[in-house]
Amino acid sequence: MTLDKINALRTKHYNATVVSIRFANPDLMIIRVKPDAGVAKHRPGQYSTLGLGHWEVRAPDCQEENPKAGDEVKLIRRAYSISSSVLNDAGDLYAETSREWLEFYIVLVRQADKAAPALTPRLFTLKSGDRVFLGEKIAGHFTLETVKPTDNIVFLSTGTGEAPHNYMLWELLNNSHDGRILSACCVRFKQDLGYLSIHEDLARRYPNYAYASLTTREATTVNQKVYIQDLITSGQLEERLGAKLDPACTHVYLCGNPKMIGVPNIDKTTGKFVFPQPLGLIEILTQRGFQMDQPSVKLKGNVHVEEYW
Ligand SMILES: Cc1cc2nc3c(=O)[nH]c(=O)nc-3n(C[C@H](O)[C@H](O)[C@H](O)COP(=O)(O)OP(=O)(O)OC[C@H]3O[C@@H](n4cnc5c(N)ncnc54)[C@H](O)[C@@H]3O)c2cc1C
Ligand SMILES: NC(=O)c1ccc[n+]([C@@H]2O[C@H](COP(=O)([O-])OP(=O)(O)OC[C@H]3O[C@@H](n4cnc5c(N)ncnc54)[C@H](OP(=O)(O)O)[C@@H]3O)[C@@H](O)[C@H]2O)c1
Repeated sequence: MTLDKINALRTKHYNATVVSIRFANPDLMIIRVKPDAGVAKHRPGQYSTLGLGHWEVRAPDCQEENPKAGDEVKLIRRAYSISSSVLNDAGDLYAETSREWLEFYIVLVRQADKAAPALTPRLFTLKSGDRVFLGEKIAGHFTLETVKPTDNIVFLSTGTGEAPHNYMLWELLNNSHDGRILSACCVRFKQDLGYLSIHEDLARRYPNYAYASLTTREATTVNQKVYIQDLITSGQLEERLGAKLDPACTHVYLCGNPKMIGVPNIDKTTGKFVFPQPLGLIEILTQRGFQMDQPSVKLKGNVHVEEYW
């Protein structure tokens, strides 16, 4: 395709500019994107859409694509939770009004089971000042809507699943939340904890905030993996939270690897939950009296789930 044709497609489809990119490691980025039309109204925890054209180059060492005729002029779009670094460059909590851009926390997927990953190999070639597509709508039920000021809040994630939690954490701290707050995130390697120093700083500053990270593939952890589920069953999570996991006053937010979450199917004849294996968080929490949100029947529980794939 000629550069003129590519530039015409970019002008037609792109409506936002990359403000900055910070690489936590070469496969993990924190990217800020400024929409031409201003940031749409939204709540922390919700997601938007990023897009780039098939015509854009792909990062090296990613699975080869097998494009169909006509794909070359199409836009690839994917959902991304809006994230937050919580603190601004001066080290203060971001002010409510200071956002001209949205922050996203994205991992490069080099290979996938079904089709080759389409968008992330292209996102990882972006630089500041480049143009992208940003969805005009910001949506999602994964928010703090039903939380009361004294409730305890537990954010449990793997990998980039901490993105929406970080934005909700900002909302809680900005509102001087009274209840206790714990964020726990499980990653393969320490270098995959893109917000580690921010969480450590926040935990030092806010007496009601605690942070726990787990790695599963470092030399010291690979032979004795501890998953987020184990933090609950061992009692360590309650210790870190400084309170019992009491369904009457606790909201738990789950985001990331579907195997950690373990969303059940509903048995059509009995109406009962059938949980997947290995043991996921929803089964553990349900056994402790927690109730998962069920948007299809408008049931608002105290376990809130965002599923990535
Ligand atoms: C509501 C929602 C919010 C999302 N928010 C984020 C986010 O904040 N950050 C982010 O990096 N991704 C997020 N995703 C996933 C994102 O939409 C893309 O699927 C992902 O970036 C890969 O895109 P792709 O086109 O390269 O590959 P795809 O073809 O979309 O995905 C290929 C495979 O990669 C794996 N995969 C996808 N996303 C991840 C991930 N984040 N971590 C580990 N494995 C993954 C899955 O096995 C998937 O089948 C979100 C998805 C949804 C539905
Ligand atoms: N992270 C990297 O270094 C890296 C580098 C290049 C590419 N990628 C690609 O990026 C994508 C995302 O990788 P990711 O590491 O962010 O996400 P991920 O594969 O979902 O792993 C995140 C964490 O979840 C853990 N986990 C796996 N199964 C679990 C279960 N049943 N219950 C609870 N936790 C579980 C993983 O432990 P395990 O160690 O047991 O898996 C890991 O600690 C993948 O496509 C990957 O190929 C990642």
